[in-house]
Amino acid sequence: MNPDFDVAVIGAGPGGYVAAIRAAQLGLRVVCIDDWSTASGGPAPGGTCTNVGCIPSKALLQSSEHFSLVQHGLAEHGIKVGKPSMNVARMLERKDTVVLQNNEGILYLFKKNKVEFIHGRAAFRARTESGWELAVTPAAPASTEAKASPAATSAPEQALRARHVIVATGSSPRALPGLPFDEVRVLSNTGALALEACPASLGVIGAGVIGLELGSVWRRLGAEVTLLEALPGFLGVADEQVAREALKCFTRQGLAIHLGVQIDEVRAGRDGVLVRYRDGKEATESKALEFERLIVSIGRVPNTAGLQAQKVGLELDARGAIVVDAHCATALPGIWAVGDVVRGPMLAHKAEEEGVAVAERIAGGAGHVDLALVPSVVYTDPEIAWVGQTEAQVKASGRAYRSGSFPFAANGRARAAAHTTGFVKMIADAQTDEILGVHIIGPSASELIAEAAVAMAFRASSEDLARICHAHPTLSEATREAALAVDRRTLNL
Ligand code: FAD
Ligand code: NAI
Repeated sequence: MNPDFDVAVIGAGPGGYVAAIRAAQLGLRVVCIDDWSTASGGPAPGGTCTNVGCIPSKALLQSSEHFSLVQHGLAEHGIKVGKPSMNVARMLERKDTVVLQNNEGILYLFKKNKVEFIHGRAAFRARTESGWELAVTPAAPASTEAKASPAATSAPEQALRARHVIVATGSSPRALPGLPFDEVRVLSNTGALALEACPASLGVIGAGVIGLELGSVWRRLGAEVTLLEALPGFLGVADEQVAREALKCFTRQGLAIHLGVQIDEVRAGRDGVLVRYRDGKEATESKALEFERLIVSIGRVPNTAGLQAQKVGLELDARGAIVVDAHCATALPGIWAVGDVVRGPMLAHKAEEEGVAVAERIAGGAGHVDLALVPSVVYTDPEIAWVGQTEAQVKASGRAYRSGSFPFAANGRARAAAHTTGFVKMIADAQTDEILGVHIIGPSASELIAEAAVAMAFRASSEDLARICHAHPTLSEATREAALAVDRRTLNL
């Protein structure tokens, strides 16, 4: 029997919607099913990224950065303003508008590319002669991020057959055992992006990317923010030198960061949340802090529970992620999985790249994603960005290397803009000079890192980059100078 579609994509986050568009561009008949709903019950494609992740967090970071700039950054330019105040409701409204624009943009792109979209929830039903059969139930009118429960069985089901299925169901916030998110006192990213007023005190369990970004938002608006991190080292995923600089900056901004913390008890009441913990210094002595609100940002779990994955024999790993090979193929013919629901960093651009690569493979091409070249960015102030290996990773690999760095304090554009914190650091192979990693903390690091990613994708040497003409005065000159620093021949330091 001819299946209804060549490709069914489950999930319209950055992994799923991009896979659907690319597959349709390649002439395949594509359906994309996603269950996220707007507040009024309409479809809200874009997944975590658009609805409660990348986009709304960056909207709030931007607003709060402006607020901070007006308070602390204008006087040195000679600009005098009165005491600013923050209309949090207006800030949230703007954020919601940005989210809606993105939801609508994706619906438009589906139409433009002739992707059929179903606002519903999909689960595997059976294997067919020519592919797979899915059961699709209508989406619930209001979304939560928790996708862990199986699909509702009472709703009317629609059957749908496709030759290939791309699972792009994403991830959900991990809760502390025995402490479900109520999104009032105990917040996941969803609640933390929607606080109707700035809390006087905000606790954050987990000083990872969400904790730092959303902690920064509310700190800039005036909250006393305390981050409680289990690991003894700060921001262990970043290069150590960068992490050290970041810790200094964040502490200066008033983020209280406690490392090596063990949470003993969290009690949420009507007016606040009590957290009992022991920290790295005096592990035996239990301490207690009370917060108006608490964000729990201790990582995310893949969304597989509602898929009936085991029913068709899809293999899950210990974390609940779908097991795939280097090309995002599962062991079952015609079933692929991309994005947060599989191994690798939980990042929107990684999900997108995988979506494109899978669509191209299904169409007979050779799409491929090099996970070693996926850049990471933390959108704090200063921004932090890196691609490739940290110095500790290179050292551990036993490879001989040289590294060089260049501070923004010595960059003309950074000085002119009064953004002189941080540096660019480059690590290159000692013999071949191939760039192995670039680590940036400072202004526009999120944009600057693209040059490093391009250079590394072309396997450039630090000398290649150092010999490329960079416009003056730009922040990107700091990257070139870091490349020169690898060979100990900076021009401006
Ligand atoms: P998702 O975006 O999670 O999308 C999956 C979609 O599938 C969802 O709409 C879900 O409802 C739907 N779904 C699940 N199960 C089913 C089902 N059975 N049937 C139908 N639909 C289903 N990453 C970055 O790169 N940059 C950032 O700045 C960034 N900021 C972030 C900030 C926050 C606060 C958070 C929480 C995350 C952030 N991320 C960021 C991570 C990023 O959001 C994820 O990596 C990305 O969304 C993963 O994309 P995905 O397509 O795999 O899954
Ligand atoms: P994360 O993995 O970045 O950080 C979680 C932190 O919580 C870690 O430092 C971990 O050691 C700590 N932790 C774990 N258990 C703990 C416990 N019991 N007590 C105290 N600390 C504990 O995860 P986070 O911040 O939840 O973000 C989830 C994902 O979303 C990340 O993997 C990231 O990839 C993605 N994201 C990306 C962003 C970006 O690209 N700018 C922004 C926000 C999220």
